[in-house]
Amino acid sequence: MSKKIAVVPGSFDPITKGHLDIIQRSSELFDEIHVSVLNNSKKTGFFTIEERLALIEEAVQHLPNVKVDYFSGLLVNYCERVGAKQIVRGLRAVSDFEYEMQLTSMNKKLNDDIETLYMMTNNQYSFISSSMVKEVAKYGGDVSSIVPKNVEHALKEKYKYILSSDN
Ligand code: PNS
Repeated sequence: MSKKIAVVPGSFDPITKGHLDIIQRSSELFDEIHVSVLNNSKKTGFFTIEERLALIEEAVQHLPNVKVDYFSGLLVNYCERVGAKQIVRGLRAVSDFEYEMQLTSMNKKLNDDIETLYMMTNNQYSFISSSMVKEVAKYGGDVSSIVPKNVEHALKEKYKYILSSDN
């Protein structure tokens, strides 16, 4: 029988404990998970693609069936390339719904064989977003309960570097 492969796509700028919760729970449902970072040439992120990949790699090293990768262009084309028939997305609140519905409908139009599954984010993490994490970290707030240790460290280093090059 062929492997059941799912893609957990996103910007992951940076990965949070909310993302990790979805990745971990998905890894129990599928044979293989590809955590895939969108490499958007038009939008430079806070962390580079290489930094994001390295942070994710470290954060998922305890999950043997999780691979970390990046993609450019359409998500469904990437899914076809890696043989994934499912996309898994986390849903935090009703406010996520409209965007997610558009994304899913478009992906379904592009490839009807690929299903998108939604997983409710654990209540503990339902208020977290990568942008909020960056804002809190920027002003020295404590993000230790909402991001993995390596991300907390990377945020501190990045802001230290930005502040020192501003002067
Ligand atoms: O973490 P995000 O930013 O909510 O993730 C969004 C992502 C990367 C899943 C979405 O932007 C995406 O799949 N982009 C690739 C282009 C694409 O296939 N778009 C869907 C059809 S418009």
